[in-house]
Amino acid sequence: SLITSTEIFKRAYEGKYAIGAFNVNNMEIIQGIVEAAKEEKSPLILQVSAGARKYARPAYLKKLVEAAIDDTGLDVVLHLDHGEDFEICKQCIDDGFTSVMIDGSKHPFEENIKLTKRVVEYAHEKGVVVEAELGKLAGIEDDVNVSEKDASFTDPDQAVEFVERTGVDSLAIAIGTSHGAYKFKGEPNLDFERLEKISNLLPGFPLVLHGASTVIPEFVEACNKYGGNIPGAKGVPEDMLRRSSKLGICKINIDTDLRLAMTAAIRKFLVENPEVFDPRKYLGEGRDAIKEMVKHKIKHVLGSSNTL
Ligand code: G3H
Ligand code: 13P
Ligand code: ZN
Ligand code: NA
Repeated sequence: SLITSTEIFKRAYEGKYAIGAFNVNNMEIIQGIVEAAKEEKSPLILQVSAGARKYARPAYLKKLVEAAIDDTGLDVVLHLDHGEDFEICKQCIDDGFTSVMIDGSKHPFEENIKLTKRVVEYAHEKGVVVEAELGKLAGIEDDVNVSEKDASFTDPDQAVEFVERTGVDSLAIAIGTSHGAYKFKGEPNLDFERLEKISNLLPGFPLVLHGASTVIPEFVEACNKYGGNIPGAKGVPEDMLRRSSKLGICKINIDTDLRLAMTAAIRKFLVENPEVFDPRKYLGEGRDAIKEMVKHKIKHVLGSSNTL
């Protein structure tokens, strides 16, 4: 059935592992992910962005996730990713999502608190949990100096005040990750000292890492080999994700690696099988690639295998 993340975060926190939160946009992506979670006996968060709702239309995604639950018997958290205002959060809560993110990170501190609090009040009344964000994720260049980090990364004391005043259930923090396939110009680098401080100040509280794709080199190379052009793509190394999951990170967001796995597999298949034009053939390859990639993440990076 559809569940909230309360129990699985508690167990992930105590067990020092993380739950994968995977962005879904269509049937093949959903199927690849849930098949992997089922085989690995892992808890699972499926998340839907505003862009995903626009692409697939809300009714389809909700029904596809319900179909995946019927088909596999899995418990799944259905989560809104990056809700930008109260209205979209309310819509998703009313539609039956069990978790929503209100992303007020672009607003000043007090406004972020006010907006988050309003969503928390509405959500909690309906048994839905809320993720918020404090700190700025995007556009962090290499060699950021200390004052730049202090301006954009999550401030540990503010994180404590934010959680206390909003009553939010989990918090996304900024420690150097960013969305997409170009996360670092030079060597990958996350501010683990900051993460440890935040985590120590909020014992037992689940933290969330956005922009956490590894940008798996094998898929980037395959895309480039079979007609693509994505030079210089770079993500968060797996050992950094493992380390973060031991420091209070309970939810790790992955979208870019799904996109790359699917695109690499489809590009390769179409180049190697120019006579094929049945979408089931190449979309099936994409689905298989997603399943294998997600199994690898669950087993070797998230550490959530056999925790159901
Ligand atoms: O946070 C961004 C996610 O990767 C979702 O991307 O807004 O293009 O669906 P999207
Ligand atoms: P990636 O772009 O690193 O996959 O991050 C996805 C994300 O944070 C979705 O909210
Ligand atoms: Zn995100
Ligand atoms: Na954890």
